[in-house]
Amino acid sequence: MSNVLLSVRGLSKNFGGLAAVQSVDMDLQEGVVTALAGPNGAGKTTIFNLMTGNLVASAGDVLLHGKSIIGKKPHRIAQMGIARSFQDLRLFTHMSVRDNVLVAVEPESWFWQPGGKAAWHQRLETVEKALERTGLSAMADKRAVDLSYAETKFLSLARILATGSKIWLLDEPASGLDLNSRNRFINILREATADGVTICLIEHNLDVMTQLADRIAFLDQGKKLAEDVPEKVLRDPELIAIYFGKSQSGN
Ligand SMILES: Nc1ncnc2c1ncn2[C@@H]1O[C@H](COP(=O)(O)OP(=O)(O)O)[C@@H](O)[C@H]1O
Ligand SMILES: [Mg+2]
Repeated sequence: MSNVLLSVRGLSKNFGGLAAVQSVDMDLQEGVVTALAGPNGAGKTTIFNLMTGNLVASAGDVLLHGKSIIGKKPHRIAQMGIARSFQDLRLFTHMSVRDNVLVAVEPESWFWQPGGKAAWHQRLETVEKALERTGLSAMADKRAVDLSYAETKFLSLARILATGSKIWLLDEPASGLDLNSRNRFINILREATADGVTICLIEHNLDVMTQLADRIAFLDQGKKLAEDVPEKVLRDPELIAIYFGKSQSGN
């Protein structure tokens, strides 16, 4: 039987008169890569924000291991093992690559706090490993602001890797990457999945989606219209019409 790690039930969010998310039900099953697809403005990022406590739901529930986490603050939810990336990355641009990863790791790691020097060294090792996995070791001392676009995307991923979280919510993590970087990206995510990470990703590129996703939840105007294996969702003419009809325009 599948093990549901994170689920949303009847999740809704209104912004004034706009129903950005409308009564969405969805389960993230352990080891399953779920893609959130749909045109711009469908409500995908808002769902992430509701899952992580960055926004307060208008109605519905978010359950982690079957227990409601609604109303909890983002840092508490992060500590509970849910890591996320943002569309705009939110890196500390004038800090080094290494320090960007270090601050993503829990504050207990700092050597003057419980755990002392041993924990501090272990934390540094975790950071180095995350940099290595994402191909950034040689750039560890560079400032984030001096990285190329692709490197910033990998840095954002390194920050998530280093947290050790087992649930990753990734908001367009591969957008704008060249083919080579994209393939590298796909491999890193596959390695993470093999290590027991459960991934939910918002993705526009159909190629990336089909290579990574086990399931696709398709949203439009705040509603989940379908959820199934990629072969089914991507062959549904109505969904494809919605997707290509709207994804050309807008933000
Ligand atoms: N903080 C906000 N305040 C007001 N409207 C918002 C806010 N965040 C998102 N929206 C609106 O909610 C809708 C869904 O947005 P979003 O979840 O970002 O879509 P997606 O990620 O699928 O492109 C859009 O119409 C967007 O303009
Ligand atoms: Mg978005």
